[in-house]
Amino acid sequence: MTNQDLLNAAANAAKYSYSKYSGFSVGAALLCKDGTVFTGCNIENSSFSLTNCAERTAIFKAVSEGYTEFKAIAIVGGAEGDLSRPCCPCGACLQVMSEFCDGDLSVILTNGEFSLDDFLPMRFELE
Ligand code: THU
Repeated sequence: MTNQDLLNAAANAAKYSYSKYSGFSVGAALLCKDGTVFTGCNIENSSFSLTNCAERTAIFKAVSEGYTEFKAIAIVGGAEGDLSRPCCPCGACLQVMSEFCDGDLSVILTNGEFSLDDFLPMRFELE
């Protein structure tokens, strides 16, 4: 599974984006340590704050099926279906990633590969 394969899977997931309020579609593809891939899209709601981001959709799908060990997540997104520009994960999604992943989780965007630590060098922890 190359980075481009994962970006392609994210772009495919973005096709299912339910984003009638923002017009901004996002897709994510989460690569588990065993090679399984879970995808997700953003799902908006007329009560705006109930919107779920693509990254969290993919992570929650994986965790709800017993997968909690992840290697990489690819993210694409953009307005009016244009997925060419890099789409960075939001703070809420970074915190959810940090619950399950070490800082070396690979975060793959259209402009290159980063780590979770690049985006979130410190994170909230209960301890
Ligand atoms: N969105 C995501 O899916 N992931 C992010 O990391 C940030 C934003 C979605 C939420 C909303 O449906 C749309 O992008 C515009 O904010």
